[in-house]
Amino acid sequence: MNARRFFIGGNWKANGTPASVKQLIADLNSAKLEVDANKDVEVVCSPPFVYLAEVKQSLRSDFGVAAQNMWDKAPGAWTGETPTQMLTDMGIEWVVLGHSERRENCGETDQVVADKTKFAIEGGLSTMTCIGEKLEERESGETFNLLDRQLKPIAAALSEEDWDKVVLAYEPVWAIGTGKVATPDQAEEVHAYLRKWLADNVSKKVSDSVRILYGGSVNDKNSEELGRKPNIDGFLVGGASLKGDAFATIINSAK
Ligand code: G3P
Repeated sequence: MNARRFFIGGNWKANGTPASVKQLIADLNSAKLEVDANKDVEVVCSPPFVYLAEVKQSLRSDFGVAAQNMWDKAPGAWTGETPTQMLTDMGIEWVVLGHSERRENCGETDQVVADKTKFAIEGGLSTMTCIGEKLEERESGETFNLLDRQLKPIAAALSEEDWDKVVLAYEPVWAIGTGKVATPDQAEEVHAYLRKWLADNVSKKVSDSVRILYGGSVNDKNSEELGRKPNIDGFLVGGASLKGDAFATIINSAK
């Protein structure tokens, strides 16, 4: 019996206008859910920083809210940054870290991602920490080595208790925004590997309890089949999380 509560994150990335964000909030608030977002499934939406306050205030209260990044220093002279404490002060519970778009475009190394994960947890946030290989790494048979490299500094930085605050998101870079979703078997193979890695390198307890999400071209047509795999505990959804009806269907596929 899988005791891990299914988890669905919506990563809005750098999308939205004041009008479209209002509409998306309204669509999500009126969406008919066939699952209980307080019990059966955990849903967390991650808007851009400028919309965080509005989403936190107006989004249905059974959905959590995540930042897409945070600054791992105390508030002070850091022009343009958003320290963890500012997020927790306004009731934000989650942060997305280590997304491949930030690794690639903002120079976030494996160590930076690990350090930020630790800092976020110490500051009171839970994290969706992302890992995943690029196409060339998959094609050259390097997927598991790459995942080892990304996981090692995270495991070194975290205590066993810290893992209660972490959701791992496996996002193969070749599947992100491409419409080329991993097959359920491809995703399950990696998720099972990650779970074993956690058992071997952290603990059996953590391996059994940590939720491992799949991300990369998840939509309202493929989520149900992916979600049937035993080691897939949910999704981190990009494009399809911007459409209220598609996102609601993905949430409902958790039943
Ligand atoms: O973080 C979610 C993500 O990178 C997947 O994006 O648009 O392929 O669902 P998308």
